[in-house]
Amino acid sequence: MSVEQLSMVDIQSILEKSHDLRQTTCHINQRVFAANLFFEPSTRTKMSFVVAQKKLGMDVLDFNEGHSSAQKGESLYDTMKTFEAIGTNLLVVRHPDSAWFNAFTHNMSIPIINGGAGKSEHPTQSMLDLDTIYQEFGRFDNLDVAIIGDIKHSRVARSNAKVLDKLGAHVYLCAPPGLADDTLDFPYIPIDEAVENCDVVMLLRIQHERHHELSHTNQYLEQYGLTKSREQKMKPHAIIMHPAPVNRGVEIDSDLIECRRSRIFQQMSNGVPIRMAIMIKLLQEWGMIYDNTIEKRQHFIGGQRLGAV
Ligand code: CP
Repeated sequence: MSVEQLSMVDIQSILEKSHDLRQTTCHINQRVFAANLFFEPSTRTKMSFVVAQKKLGMDVLDFNEGHSSAQKGESLYDTMKTFEAIGTNLLVVRHPDSAWFNAFTHNMSIPIINGGAGKSEHPTQSMLDLDTIYQEFGRFDNLDVAIIGDIKHSRVARSNAKVLDKLGAHVYLCAPPGLADDTLDFPYIPIDEAVENCDVVMLLRIQHERHHELSHTNQYLEQYGLTKSREQKMKPHAIIMHPAPVNRGVEIDSDLIECRRSRIFQQMSNGVPIRMAIMIKLLQEWGMIYDNTIEKRQHFIGGQRLGAV
């Protein structure tokens, strides 16, 4: 539900499992029904959960809010209870209410994963971001991470700032006027200082769907975004991240999205093994699957064995 629920041991075990899943096929030899209840648009989170569920051999129930009884006024709670009642074993929920998970989850008897809660939390995005940073640097301790953009409306900023701080990184924020969030207890620094000094430069898009500030973005890139000239001043080893979707040419120059420093599409790729790892962990913790119901196979590419079971 929240990165605050994750201990250091939880984080380490999810990252290790994700690493293993890149080298090992993992299939649950047992019927598991999963449903993804998305009440906000999504491409990456929803589809990477579907890929992760199918790779694990789960049956994925089709839910489309626009064609569901939510249109007849059914509440989120009653929708979740309905999926529980018909035998669903695991739910992934995204909802615009920043606190939906506080209100409902204690009455549920199946694991629920937060796929995004309003402006408050996006914990699986944080886990794939941690995976990406760890792949690059092999540590979090003493890394300087700048989170830049629409901090005020970003659940990614909130989850990432909290979890990176817990792991020993130094988190800096940078936001245009009106888009800072003073409830987050991290230092704000100017964009040029952030770009020139940090190991990770994480851009955020303006969340136009949540507010009407900065509706004209003609000057945004030059004033507050990652331009090509700013990128040239980054430290040699520093990387660019963005949870996406990206507003090309607004928070980042379009040409930088696939440049050598960018890990933006790698973040998306990492979303699949991370979400597989999270679902396996939860189903095991809830006593729904056991080690002996998970079949593991090594990947073979061109006759070469990759990794160990
Ligand atoms: N990063 C992210 O949550 O993307 P989607 O909104 O496409 O799921």
